[in-house]
Amino acid sequence: MILNSHSKPSVIKKRAIANFSEHVSSAKAAFFQKYGMDFVMGSRKGPYLRDIDGAKRLFNLHCNGGVFNLGHRNSELIGLLKAGLDEYDIGNHHLMSKARADLARLLAELMPGDLNYTVFGVGGGEAVDLAFKVARAYTKRTKIISAKGGYHGHTGLALAAGDARYSRPFGPPAPGFVQVPFNDVGAIEAAADTDTAAVILETVPATLGICIPGDDYLPSVRKICDRRGVLLIMDEVQTGLGRTGKLWAFEHFDTMPDIVVVGKGLSGGLYPISATVMRQPLETVFHEDPFIHVSTFGGAEIGCLVAQRVLEISSSPDFLNHVNRLAQDFAEQLKTCLKSHSKFFIALRQLGLMMGLVLRDEQCGPILTKTAYDHDLLMIYANNDPRVCQLLPPLVMDPARIGWVIRQIDGALTAARRLKTLAGVKSGFERIIKKWV
Ligand SMILES: Cc1ncc(COP(=O)(O)O)c(C=O)c1O
Repeated sequence: MILNSHSKPSVIKKRAIANFSEHVSSAKAAFFQKYGMDFVMGSRKGPYLRDIDGAKRLFNLHCNGGVFNLGHRNSELIGLLKAGLDEYDIGNHHLMSKARADLARLLAELMPGDLNYTVFGVGGGEAVDLAFKVARAYTKRTKIISAKGGYHGHTGLALAAGDARYSRPFGPPAPGFVQVPFNDVGAIEAAADTDTAAVILETVPATLGICIPGDDYLPSVRKICDRRGVLLIMDEVQTGLGRTGKLWAFEHFDTMPDIVVVGKGLSGGLYPISATVMRQPLETVFHEDPFIHVSTFGGAEIGCLVAQRVLEISSSPDFLNHVNRLAQDFAEQLKTCLKSHSKFFIALRQLGLMMGLVLRDEQCGPILTKTAYDHDLLMIYANNDPRVCQLLPPLVMDPARIGWVIRQIDGALTAARRLKTLAGVKSGFERIIKKWV
């Protein structure tokens, strides 16, 4: 039954919210209810997700940072998963595995140079942790350099590579981590020393507000790494798998990494899996004891089947052409929005379908997130730079829907401008910023 969006929540929805509040997160439940965003995920398909009561439908312009690159409940992947269950399960991480071997081989074929070996994990943070472990074991050095405002996950070592505000409440972070400003070659030059094992960078830092690096940045970092014997780790958890119009975003910058981290979209939105892909020589760190790193669910065989198809789809020239065509359409149609909201929407950052709307100030990202929701769009601001709203549509979306999406964004921008100027509202949204940032 489809209810209208103003109907009272059903008993099922009320119970879900109450259970969430009592057993998952009381603060999140209170926050979403307070700001009229008490959406509980129900059915989902393609670019859409519906509230559990069926009333509200959102167009997903965030895609969980790329998890839903191929849309929600992609029917081909679901068919593959169902058929795979006739033969496979998670597998056994102690033993050799054809599914894991096939997927690792395909990754090697799709990566440049001798990026030939893969260790599988479950999530991006785990894959980043492993990248640091490999870098330290190989170089016999400890220091890891990352970008201020960058984001690599909330597991042990990945957490230490991120901003202190995420680790501070949880006690001292792992030692050996240094942050430098993104897009600043001199800062890397100054920080990289004889104890530096690796530099890790997102090719386009998403949580920092979709910052597009200068053309020379990554090649210059590569040169510094080569000179100092430091490994370069590219975090392609969000930027990989076609998001930027090339299979891997580092291909735009003619830079060869030593280690590449892949996650999110590799799951096809159905079965969690991540990958740490490393250059051939780095695999030697596991020669003495190949059991020194294990992950029970890492590279689950059933997930490997899905991931293999995700890679085949995402690397096909037709698919990448589609992404680039969508990117061009978005760029053209967003120009009108930029003109008509020029005091609020300052600039568009874009590499393929990795887009960020740069807004006037730090209040604007959270405000636009709310008004976009009211206009049936799921669009989320960048946590480490709330002036920017991320725009990450599904890579398989129908180009014919772009016009509708832009009209909704236009409406959301108009509402956001109004909301920002309303007396009294400002302080309310300052509270949002404090809670969300
Ligand atoms: C660039 C990047 N790296 C790593 C991660 C961590 O991935 P996960 O949440 O799967 O651990 C994320 C998650 O958002 C990410 O955006």
